Amino acid sequence: MKGIILAGGSGTRLYPNTITLCKQLLPIYDKPMIYYPLSVLMLAGIREVLIISTPKDISRFQELFGDGNWLGMNIEYCVQNSPDGLAQGLILADSFVGNDDVAMILGDNVFYGQGFTPMLQQAKNEAKNGFATIFTYHMKNPQAFGVVEIDKDGKVLSLEEKPQNPKSNFVATGLYFYDNTAIDIAKSIKPSARGELEITDVNIEYLKQNRLKAQGLGRGFAWLDTGTHDNLLEAGNFVQTIELRQGYKIACIEEIAFNNGWIDKEMLLDRANILDKSGYGSYLRGLLK
Ligand code: G1P
Repeated sequence: MKGIILAGGSGTRLYPNTITLCKQLLPIYDKPMIYYPLSVLMLAGIREVLIISTPKDISRFQELFGDGNWLGMNIEYCVQNSPDGLAQGLILADSFVGNDDVAMILGDNVFYGQGFTPMLQQAKNEAKNGFATIFTYHMKNPQAFGVVEIDKDGKVLSLEEKPQNPKSNFVATGLYFYDNTAIDIAKSIKPSARGELEITDVNIEYLKQNRLKAQGLGRGFAWLDTGTHDNLLEAGNFVQTIELRQGYKIACIEEIAFNNGWIDKEMLLDRANILDKSGYGSYLRGLLK
């Protein structure tokens, strides 16, 4: 399975922070925002990742991750010339994905909760069987999101993008697992009223074909977004609270690569040496004890 991270957008809701630096590179506490979605793909065991961003910002991501070798990964890059919707990411990733299944995640989404890795594994297996998986979350203000109506057995009844009168409080988070047909589906949908190729329309097609699963993220789970100044600070405070209390880092990509067996002790130590002046380096060193 291949992975896509969507790291485009103009980030105007975070101005002036994002005039020169794109949103997905802003820090959430002790690491750049994009580490969080990358860590999710890595927990799913995905080693080949395409980062899609704007013509202006793509080189920053290249600087941050290079070819991904230091994580035991293959990271590639692709430019989205104009923000024409999330589903366009699938079309742009066509040749990168090839005949594989694909997981796509939004570059500003933070997921945190026990038992997440088995859910990701399950979604990956579903994709092998031709099913798409969306991850749902209960929100107070569902109308700002893709709203998912689910029956008592967790079966999806309907999907609506930012409806005025939401049919439920459950929304689709920015994480999607698909089989290879997602790319042709994305090519077949038409732009919405706001002029974008909506990922919700891709998911509606899977629903029509009876190939859509919804994995609920329960009340013990944190799904945070970082779209406004307050959300960004809240996410940083959340990560700080957990990390200081437990002494474990959230979304430490070097740790996940090491645990996955993608890098060895020497590679982890090299990385620790680079990050030595911040607590991040000593954390990595501590993993070897
Ligand atoms: C997008 C999707 C929406 C989803 C949300 C999650 O919204 O269109 O269905 O619930 O991401 O973050 P957008 O970021 O385009 O407003």
